[in-house]
Amino acid sequence: YKVNKAQFVLCAAWKSQWPENDLPEICLAGRSNVGKSSLINTITNHSKLAKVSGTPGKTRTLNFFNINDELRLVDVPGYGYAKVNDKIKESFGDMIDTYLRERDVLKGLVLIVDYRHKPTRDDIEMYEYAKYYEIPVIVVATKEDKLKRNDLKKNEKMIKQVLDFDENDQFVRFSSFNKTGIQELWDAILKLC
Ligand code: GTP
Ligand code: MG
Repeated sequence: YKVNKAQFVLCAAWKSQWPENDLPEICLAGRSNVGKSSLINTITNHSKLAKVSGTPGKTRTLNFFNINDELRLVDVPGYGYAKVNDKIKESFGDMIDTYLRERDVLKGLVLIVDYRHKPTRDDIEMYEYAKYYEIPVIVVATKEDKLKRNDLKKNEKMIKQVLDFDENDQFVRFSSFNKTGIQELWDAILKLC
């Protein structure tokens, strides 16, 4: 898949601000600082489309990106960010919850996890949540570049086990640094759209 056009559409804090539901959408979620924004920049080949932050937890709204006028990627706020207070955390939750339950053009969730580590409680909850609402998931294990060759299989197995991975879902190894997994991820996305 070749991205010829990748464009920020809008950011939305409320349902009334969502774009018209005329294109399939894939949302991307993950713990703060896992590398979501980097992944969006990498797969669209636009180094500054989504902001990459040194300070985690910068993304506060649902950010919609138009890809080739064919589909939209939706960047959701990183969950499990310790520095925001509970009230803000709660409204993050509501915003994501409303989007995942009510967006009829939503075709799937890209759940980004850190390839090096055991999925966190928040990762597990996010996955279970998607399963509950029957949203197809692509689990992306990112920062693959940080792993030793020997650990690739081992960690994939560990991540799948911790998530209680559904074999109908897809699993993609990825690195924004090495630019690996890009086509695999697009294939997985297009399968859902
Ligand atoms: P927030 O929006 O702030 O929650 O973070 P995010 O999930 O969008 O993460 P972001 O893309 O901003 O990256 C967080 C940090 O991880 C940055 O320091 C990136 O340089 C680094 N990073 C992202 N992707 C990779 C990767 O594939 N490999 C390695 N080694 N580092 C990465
Ligand atoms: Mg981000």
